[in-house]
Amino acid sequence: ERVGYMIIIKTEQEIQMMKKAGELLAKTHKEIAKMIKPGVTTYEIDQFVEEYLKKHNATPEQKGYYGYPYATCASINDEICHGFPRKEPLKNGDIVTIDMVVNLDGWLADSAWSYGVGEISDEARKLLDVTKKALYIGIEKAVIGNRIGDISHAIQTYVESEGFSVVRDFVGHGIGRNMHEDPQVPHFGRPGRGPRLMEGMVLTIEPMVNVGEYHCTIDDNQWTARTIDGKLSAQYEHTLAITKDGPLILTDQG
Ligand code: MF3
Ligand code: CO
Repeated sequence: ERVGYMIIIKTEQEIQMMKKAGELLAKTHKEIAKMIKPGVTTYEIDQFVEEYLKKHNATPEQKGYYGYPYATCASINDEICHGFPRKEPLKNGDIVTIDMVVNLDGWLADSAWSYGVGEISDEARKLLDVTKKALYIGIEKAVIGNRIGDISHAIQTYVESEGFSVVRDFVGHGIGRNMHEDPQVPHFGRPGRGPRLMEGMVLTIEPMVNVGEYHCTIDDNQWTARTIDGKLSAQYEHTLAITKDGPLILTDQG
């Protein structure tokens, strides 16, 4: 049970444990990248992830989290996040975000990645490129002495300069033995505000970027968020540690 506000600082050894979880998560994404093509279903990808993690003595932390029914979130086209894996095949031109949290020996890592299916439109390509770049622009600001708002502001400024919008209703977060710890990491906001970044913090940065408006609606399944205007949305997410030597990306795909 979480009472009040508390940022849990991790030791170097704990960060190494989280890095092991992150490395497995990165390897899983690289396997998924090979599976993405027209005709594959996100249900098959979800089953693959369950088996792959089991084989590596890890578990999918999302499954059962507040009753969430799957190992992965699979959000297609106008779905922003928390899409349910499904048996309907991916089509040429779709974009899909696969998000998952790996639990290895009680330590967690969280990473989402967006993929184009077959040949995608120029607009979809630009959305994927801008969203990934927004993530790395945020990570650059994740240095000791900066504040959370410096990350938020850098991401928002870049995304909006490219003519896209940043989702407000879902934010990055601290992570450790629990999926969601303090602080929150919004992808929009003012520089110089919010908690100061300190050595040993472990955070996710996970911008969701929309081609159109940033507002969303929630499906009848009570989970899936989608854009209010039906336009595309993408997301890239890493888990990273704040260290003396700068941000250490624990879910780096190499
Ligand atoms: N991985 C998501 C995050 O970035 C959490 C998804 S919610 C869940 O915080 F219920 F699916 F786990
Ligand atoms: Co997250």
